[in-house]
Amino acid sequence: MTATTDNTPTNTPPRVIALMNQKGGVGKTTTTVNLAAALAKLGKRTLVIDLDPQAHATLHLGVDPSSLESSVYDVLLEPETETAGALRQTRENLWVLPAETDLAAVENELKDAPDRNQRLTKAIASVADRFDTVLLDCPPALGLLTLNALASAGEVLIPMQAHFLALQGVSKLLETVTLVRQSLNSKLGVLGVVLCMHENQTTLAQEVVADLEDFFASAKGTDVAWANAVVLTPPIRRNIKLAECPSFGQTIFEYAPTAAGAQDYTDLAGTVLGESPKQAEPAPAQQEQATPQPESTPEPQAQVEHKPAQQEPTPTQTDTNSPYGNPYPDFRG
Ligand SMILES: Nc1ncnc2c1ncn2[C@@H]1O[C@H](COP(=O)(O)OP(=O)(O)OP(=O)(O)O)[C@@H](O)[C@H]1O
Ligand SMILES: [Mg+2]
Repeated sequence: MTATTDNTPTNTPPRVIALMNQKGGVGKTTTTVNLAAALAKLGKRTLVIDLDPQAHATLHLGVDPSSLESSVYDVLLEPETETAGALRQTRENLWVLPAETDLAAVENELKDAPDRNQRLTKAIASVADRFDTVLLDCPPALGLLTLNALASAGEVLIPMQAHFLALQGVSKLLETVTLVRQSLNSKLGVLGVVLCMHENQTTLAQEVVADLEDFFASAKGTDVAWANAVVLTPPIRRNIKLAECPSFGQTIFEYAPTAAGAQDYTDLAGTVLGESPKQAEPAPAQQEQATPQPESTPEPQAQVEHKPAQQEPTPTQTDTNSPYGNPYPDFRG
């Protein structure tokens, strides 16, 4: 692995982007790692923070979680742990704050700490001048680790698959973002959705994308967290090479640099950096299909049935096989 020591401090604060979806297996980790690698190749000093006890991002970047002297677990649990000392440089311009399986215990061990939702914010602040971009790979749950991510991020990027039920998941997710914005982090905004494992030729996928575009278009000019959100382009096509490379501890750029996945993540990085006008145009309004929206309702109103946002957090179940239970979202400071 290439490793440079150039990590010269910068004055501009990094963009901190949380890749979040409480649904499991939608492409969060694949996108975190390969988007980070693409940004690093474009010269952006990029940090991946692995917030998932499964440690998939850590493994994908070629770091053995059992070899760690310190990890994000120590950083969150013991605030005096030096975050800088837990960082591992894995490639030129690409670092990871790795996870280990112990991370699952953080949910319980921090439950009584008054600053439990701000631990990550403090850790990132201590190394912020070293990076241009920080990508947070969230676990598939709306627990304390995800709340820490949302409390420290400026932007949320939602990896998802264009399935019908996925829209309901997005509604739930946006409720959580709204509550975090109201209580923990008023600067939080939604960058948009990145479609993963995308099969554009299916009618269902096209309908879901059109619904999402309508939904985001209808939020323009409002004060909701997703007022500037878009369906980012390009969608990431289903590409077997992307599924193969994690087991080699390689990014797509090392494992299969000419594969569609490498092209898609390179182009996505350009979009995220705003270097190409690749954000999808809002689809024309489809009045006859639109769900009527109450004028003053800021909650998600995708063209699917969903439960309205609630002021108080409600119990949430994940639909994942993840090893952690799913504690109720807790937005108290
Ligand atoms: N574009 C793609 N084409 C083919 N396979 C993909 C693609 N993106 C992701 N995968 C595969 O799909 C599976 C789930 O992806 P990934 O692990 O990134 O999802 P996740 O949302 O991080 O999952 P979890 O919720 O468990 O953390 C993995 O096996 C991954 O290799
Ligand atoms: Mg993952």
